[in-house]
Amino acid sequence: MKGLILSGGAGTRLRPITHTSAKQLVPVANKPILFYGIEDMVEAGITEIGIITGDTGPEIREAVGDGSQWGANVTYIPQDAPLGLAHCVLIARNFLGDEDFVMYLGDNLLRQGIAEFVESFEADHVESRAGDAQVPSAQILLARVDDPQRFGVAEIGPDGEVTKLVEKPEHPKSDLALVGVYLFDPSIHEAVAAIEPSPRGELEITDAIQWLIDNGHRVRHEVLEGWWKDTGKLEPLLEGNRLVLDMLEASNAGTVDAASVLEGIVVIEAGAEVVNSTLRGPVIIGEGSRIVDSTVGPYASIYFDCEISASTIENSVILEQSRITGVEGIADSLVGKQVEVRRARTTPAATRLMIGDHSIVELR
Ligand code: DAU
Repeated sequence: MKGLILSGGAGTRLRPITHTSAKQLVPVANKPILFYGIEDMVEAGITEIGIITGDTGPEIREAVGDGSQWGANVTYIPQDAPLGLAHCVLIARNFLGDEDFVMYLGDNLLRQGIAEFVESFEADHVESRAGDAQVPSAQILLARVDDPQRFGVAEIGPDGEVTKLVEKPEHPKSDLALVGVYLFDPSIHEAVAAIEPSPRGELEITDAIQWLIDNGHRVRHEVLEGWWKDTGKLEPLLEGNRLVLDMLEASNAGTVDAASVLEGIVVIEAGAEVVNSTLRGPVIIGEGSRIVDSTVGPYASIYFDCEISASTIENSVILEQSRITGVEGIADSLVGKQVEVRRARTTPAATRLMIGDHSIVELR
């Protein structure tokens, strides 16, 4: 079985970060989101991994390399424009050959990994081939959500099988959203070649799976029990960060002075320094970061080489090499890399900004 991870796309939703960077590399609990997908694949025994890349290809390549850090072998498949998830399958045809494969959307994060999901597809193939049940051509994962119109939505028929899949319906017929992890056998290649672009101009994988159903293929589904986040927006990203932080175990590879207090699950990475500060777990402080005279957490991830002084931060993700000085009450925030946020002491009072494109600043 092969793996296909999608890291292309327009990256329009997390604009403050993705204007120049890949949203799939935003760290959740100090690990790029994309890495969770790679780890899930390797854990499921899949080491031949293709990664679809778009504008942010160079950045993705630099972060992932040849995959050997996970014992995987990564092939990059550039996509000229974000023409849809089914288009990704089309352009990966040579890489995928005639093998079954798992497709993983690079901005999805799911608690339970994919090992069981992959195993059940493979077991089903063996069993179906032995008996007379129809071999499933695809396996999809569904999750109950409050806002199904943001997702692909599945309808289940009276026999318990999926009958219809609609991409981002205005009036969803169920609350079962398609999770961004799919398993396919080679019949998907016929499906992606047969469908037409959707009204939003994309070749939708949802339509390709519907094509399979309409053409007599069996599409098996499972309903997810653990949590799942499509981190393409700020709130789900912060939720994902909280959920992953909750799963960490406390560790300290840095230095903490006697005046500092650590409460709850606190992870301090190598070379980080905590001086006269309170860390309220769950919290993670990245390599080489310095926390001075500050309160950080709960639910804060400070990536590497940051400097936080005389500030308080909670429920936030701060990217690498940023400096926050003299700012109380930062919450629910995503701060990009090499950003400086500081309290001005000058008069007359003014709010001075130098912020990049597509940013959002909320002032009190
Ligand atoms: O997260 C689950 C949802 O993902 C499903 O419920 C939907 O059915 C499915 O269409 C998809 O919807 P999104 O609108 O969230 O997909 P998005 O455009 O965010 O793309 C998902 C990932 O695939 C993201 O990492 C970017 C990448 N991508 C996307 C497109 C359109 C590509 O690599 N190439 C593309 O052409």
